[in-house]
Amino acid sequence: MMDLSLSEIERLEAAFGSPLYLFDETAFTQNYHELDAALKKQYPKYQISYSYKTNYTPYICSAVKRLNGYAEVVSGMEYEIARRVGYPSDQIIFNGPNKGEDGLSALLEGSIVNVDNLDEMSAVCERVKDFPEKSFEIGLRVNMDLGQSFTSRFGMDERDIVKAFDLVKEARNLSVVGLHCHISRCRGLQAWQKRAEIMLGLADRFFAGRQPKYLDLGSGMFGKMDPVFEAQFDHVPSYTDYAFVTAKLVADRYAAVSEADKPILFTEPGTTLVNKYIDFIGRVDAVKTVRGKSFAVLNCSEHNLGETCTLKRLPIKILHAGRQTKTYEGLAFVGYTCLEQDVMYTDYCGALAVGDYVQFGNVGGYSNVYKPPFIWPNCAMVARKSSGEYAVIKRRETYEDLLQTYSFHE
Ligand SMILES: Cc1ncc(COP(=O)(O)O)c(C=O)c1O
Repeated sequence: MMDLSLSEIERLEAAFGSPLYLFDETAFTQNYHELDAALKKQYPKYQISYSYKTNYTPYICSAVKRLNGYAEVVSGMEYEIARRVGYPSDQIIFNGPNKGEDGLSALLEGSIVNVDNLDEMSAVCERVKDFPEKSFEIGLRVNMDLGQSFTSRFGMDERDIVKAFDLVKEARNLSVVGLHCHISRCRGLQAWQKRAEIMLGLADRFFAGRQPKYLDLGSGMFGKMDPVFEAQFDHVPSYTDYAFVTAKLVADRYAAVSEADKPILFTEPGTTLVNKYIDFIGRVDAVKTVRGKSFAVLNCSEHNLGETCTLKRLPIKILHAGRQTKTYEGLAFVGYTCLEQDVMYTDYCGALAVGDYVQFGNVGGYSNVYKPPFIWPNCAMVARKSSGEYAVIKRRETYEDLLQTYSFHE
């Protein structure tokens, strides 16, 4: 978490309002380099492709671009963001189970499109017929079983992959050049090794006698965490550990292949890149004890922080604003909404007073991009740039921002 003094937080509040998201650009950049270096050490043709859905704040996307990362998008809106931050289409990976017309136009523009299912495959085959003088390349999203407790709904199983290759053969100006996968809720090393092995096996089978242009392992790695947060997980591997069970396997498999013909190895980190590098600062506006249970009502909501705060205990810091505190046992930090379940943190034991600030860590992923227009508009996001200056990278939303799509006339 960022190390902030009370006076710094008060200055931020005066300048940008409260509550506030805070992006730590320096730490974000360092983490990016560490992940990139760990995998490149094993396999130099490794390429990060940042998962936009996790946090598509354009400032963050631009930071990734400056670091030479690609963009991984799953909708026309995210594709538009990538284009607006200056990506050429061939550095945008377009995934997703329902890309619609946007996916087809991205393919025509030259982006890297991974097809999820046979119906999408048929639509692609139809569309490329309109351009017989050009040739197009696609990837296939592979479905796999890593021993997870559910059947993933994404990608194609081997039976459908065979059919997809058949469809592509019929479409004369289309070829399959890559394989993609992403399995969520499987962040351990064994699962990563298994996905790399399965992908290499499929590449051998479906690209016999040649190599795919790329293998894309998706993401689902653990990123770095504050110790109190990390302690809530069984084992958190390092980037070097992940590199050994993925990039090294790819390097060994293609050791005899020339540099030019080796496939690019993509991963698509989202939470891994951004989670730890956004903090959220809320303020205690009321404290009450009801039937023996204490609550601190904050000027924010679980919707600002994202689902993780309901599943785990986020790392927090309390900054006392100088008023007379009282000591509480088992206090819950609750939000401004009228939902009973709007609880951001449970069982706080310690001193607290109205006016104190609560700094939540690890809220980079699925937070501001996941905030519904429910009861309050969203607050601003500020970056602490590498230069040490602060700058607004998402302004506070106004009522007008949220209301303008509704009709107020009968
Ligand atoms: C296709 C795909 N790639 C990448 C990601 C990002 O994964 P993570 O946030 O675990 O790095 C996701 C997340 O759901 C995804 O669906």
